[in-house]
Amino acid sequence: MLKIGVLVSGRGSNLQAIIDAIDRGAVKAKIELVLSDNPDAYALQRCGKHGIKYDVVERKNFKSRSDFEMSIVGKLMDSGVELVVLAGFMRILGRDFISSYRDRIINIHPSLIPSFQGLHAQRQAVDFGAKFSGCTVHIVDESVDAGPVIVQAVVPVLPEDDEDTLSDKILNWEHKILPQTVQWFSEGRVKLNGRKVVVEGAKYGTLPVNPELEIFG
Ligand code: GAR
Repeated sequence: MLKIGVLVSGRGSNLQAIIDAIDRGAVKAKIELVLSDNPDAYALQRCGKHGIKYDVVERKNFKSRSDFEMSIVGKLMDSGVELVVLAGFMRILGRDFISSYRDRIINIHPSLIPSFQGLHAQRQAVDFGAKFSGCTVHIVDESVDAGPVIVQAVVPVLPEDDEDTLSDKILNWEHKILPQTVQWFSEGRVKLNGRKVVVEGAKYGTLPVNPELEIFG
């Protein structure tokens, strides 16, 4: 059973999607620990409801960013976490954190990276006039929202879309591609070659999500 740690900052709907996929047996993983940098994150209430261990680590309680991050890494390692999942964790990770879990940190981002990196990716897509956007699960490296791509899902941006409607459409796919990626890691099928990721045995060449998902009908 793959041991995962999930880092959150807010609502936690992606965390919930992972919890639900584990509960229905589609994802063979155990959430050992959820960590939030925000004590008011609704995600923590979800942990309470599901009996998941959680902790709060606030940046303001540490002298440096490195101390803050090393505290998080320490808690993850003490819990035996093998894969770190950033699920709406709104902080950029530094070099020490990344090298502690090299190629074992994944992030969900609400755009087709490298487009629309950083905050308010959905608003950026609407304001830019993009005709398609989507979401990406990628491996976290020292670049921001630009690490090796594991899976992307595409949604059309319609003339009537605003930030909220586009966010809803994208979120629907986020809740599928993130749990699916955890399951691919659990099966040991995520292979990294340079900056290119291949999911072994997955079917490629499909729209709107590539590679094709297996745990959702
Ligand atoms: C999600 O849309 C996620 O893609 C985004 O924050 C939201 C968190 O929602 N993450 C980023 O923008 C990271 N750069 P959630 O708390 O309901 O999962």
